[in-house]
Amino acid sequence: MTASVTVAAPAKINLQLGVGAARADGYHSLATVYQAIGLYDEVTVACAEETTLEVVSDGVDVSDVPTDSSNLALRAAALLASRAGNDARVAMSIRKRIPVAGGMAGGSTDAAGALVACDALWGLQTSREDLLSLGAELGSDVPFCLLGGTVTGTGRGEVVAEAADTGEYWWVVALPGGGLSTPAVFGEFDRLSGAEVPEPEISRALLDALSAGSTLEVAGLLSNDLEAPALSLRPDLADVLAQGRAAGALAAMVSGSGPTCLVLAADEPGAVRIRDVLARAGVSALVARGPVPGAHVVTPL
Ligand code: C5P
Repeated sequence: MTASVTVAAPAKINLQLGVGAARADGYHSLATVYQAIGLYDEVTVACAEETTLEVVSDGVDVSDVPTDSSNLALRAAALLASRAGNDARVAMSIRKRIPVAGGMAGGSTDAAGALVACDALWGLQTSREDLLSLGAELGSDVPFCLLGGTVTGTGRGEVVAEAADTGEYWWVVALPGGGLSTPAVFGEFDRLSGAEVPEPEISRALLDALSAGSTLEVAGLLSNDLEAPALSLRPDLADVLAQGRAAGALAAMVSGSGPTCLVLAADEPGAVRIRDVLARAGVSALVARGPVPGAHVVTPL
């Protein structure tokens, strides 16, 4: 048995986030196109007598991350153990670089990372299919975080299918500070959209642009139905988007349920320039490339 395993777990963005009406179970039907980008949390697990969790900040505020058994990554480890019929305990450490409550699936990707890490630690060789179905039990975004790349999501986001993507996209991730509660943003969506909400559909034009790898076309097709509710709850985000556009972005939008904002640049030097302009305006930002693989073991190699 391996002494410890570390997994890199990427942040997610939504290139399209189409939201439908609230379902009977409280979730909203989604038609989304996810992309994993090169901004990673690291999840390390080791065998231990007692289960413990340490959350280490690497540039983000981690004060709202639970360190008890309610943490989604610990729940992921417990779920995998119970399915495997073992009562293994782990000492888990999460190094966080993805903004917390930022609309980038940080908690979900840590859970995906915990599934992959514990599977390797315990030598289970769980099938991809079984990992995806465990992921769906944990949260709507977890199956995507296991896959990475560029992926369509339907149902409540948990029904995933890989999408052809030949492009390389350079994103500036702007971090306006503070968090937004995902349920609160969905609630604001309901309030703003009224009674008749059409069933969302994945954009064929976006899938074609991704398949062709055209950054320019992708830029014109980005959409997020949660942007208006996020802006309604955080009007200050409009300034961040405007600053991104003024700095030379091909497109700028709120990431998922926010408050993180995404700025698409033409290439890496363009992204670095935009990041620096935002930084001078007092908005901390970083550059990340997409798409990248989903949660994967980085040590031992
Ligand atoms: O699935 P997950 O636990 O990550 O979702 C967090 C919250 O986001 C849900 O409790 C729900 O309020 C909201 N949500 C939603 N519709 C979705 C996904 C999430 O309303 N498709």
